[in-house]
Amino acid sequence: MQYTHAPVISSTGLFTPEDSISNAELVDSFNKYVDEFNRDNAAAIGAGEIEALSPSSVEFIEKASGIKARHVMSKTPVLDTAIMEPRWEERSNDEISVLAEIGVKAARQALEKAGRDPKDVDAVLCAASNMERPYPAMAIEIQQALGIDGFGFDMNVACSSATFGIQTAADYVRAGNARSVLVVSPEITSGHLNWRDRDSHFIFGDVATAVLVEDAALAPARHWDILGTRLKTVFSNNIRNNFGYLNKASPETADAPDKLFVQEGRKVFKEVVPMVAQMIIEEADRLQIDPAELRRLWLHQANAGMNRLIAQRVLGHEASADESPTVLDTYGNTSSAGSIIAFHLNNDDLAAGDTGLICSFGAGYSAGTVFVRAAG
Ligand code: COA
Repeated sequence: MQYTHAPVISSTGLFTPEDSISNAELVDSFNKYVDEFNRDNAAAIGAGEIEALSPSSVEFIEKASGIKARHVMSKTPVLDTAIMEPRWEERSNDEISVLAEIGVKAARQALEKAGRDPKDVDAVLCAASNMERPYPAMAIEIQQALGIDGFGFDMNVACSSATFGIQTAADYVRAGNARSVLVVSPEITSGHLNWRDRDSHFIFGDVATAVLVEDAALAPARHWDILGTRLKTVFSNNIRNNFGYLNKASPETADAPDKLFVQEGRKVFKEVVPMVAQMIIEEADRLQIDPAELRRLWLHQANAGMNRLIAQRVLGHEASADESPTVLDTYGNTSSAGSIIAFHLNNDDLAAGDTGLICSFGAGYSAGTVFVRAAG
């Protein structure tokens, strides 16, 4: 076969957990926790030693974020006010790990859609914002479960992991180091979310996505040419998670709230919108694409307001749901998987020649753009 070294997206895959938590269920549980906390600490609250907790509200959540529900891997313990985190039986080393299991489900779907035999895949990148363990890599476990000969490694760029993975895969194809690369993003974000924090308890959901990036010579007739990729990082403490192997040594702080997702939501909103809009416009210019001509934007799914503003700056007008589809209502923020879910669920109707943009942004700060054009 004559390889082109031109990277394309051959197919995508999506695994969605069965269980979902509606805003009403979430707020019921949260407000029960607030009542219990305030009752149990009534004396200290009365003495001014600690502050009473305030209730959450369905209206606030939907208005501030656009989120109506989120899928989760472990619903009952998350809603149990005595637990409020996902729980599962610890698995033995002979069993597949949870992250790899859902990654494999998404990857199988992508392989089937492309008609690709795993034996013809060269590499697996597990690109996600939280890894289940430091090593062996989840990517290698997924590689083994699928029967792929080649190599795999994990990479973490928080909410931008998938687009950074796509550029990495595309670079392998461009350099001739691989012809077919799976970028798998299993995101069990419920495990890093502080379900007792009113400011953020509604944000995240669980999911897994997969993107098959290949040399155009291998790709099925219907695929997406990758016109260009661009990555950017700028250090910020405004989205941070201090969980890590070095603080395991101090058990008294190991459970502190900073060992989970923490953000300054307003600052993130204000700083990331202009950064991402400018990056998209500059990259479109480099690729000689008129941003106003973009047929569809598959943006990172963190907040409906952020997406509205970014899309407006890029397109020059208020984007319709057709131009900038959202999956926030049913999936919530699924970290790096968000823009890929939006793409996966909303690309079949585009015609050959239509140009679109997959774009991520999040902690780091980090942002990634992948301009694509439909073929076939
Ligand atoms: N229920 C009811 N009220 C709530 C609430 C809740 N769950 N959480 C906060 N509030 C209140 C606040 O106390 C505040 O009240 P005040 O005005 O009396 O002080 C008010 O609502 C506004 O809070 P604020 O935190 O400023 O809300 P916001 O409009 O900025 O929305 C986010 C919060 C997080 C949804 C929004 O800032 C956001 O999405 N930012 C970007 C996040 C992002 O993309 N992060 C990346 C993650 S990967």
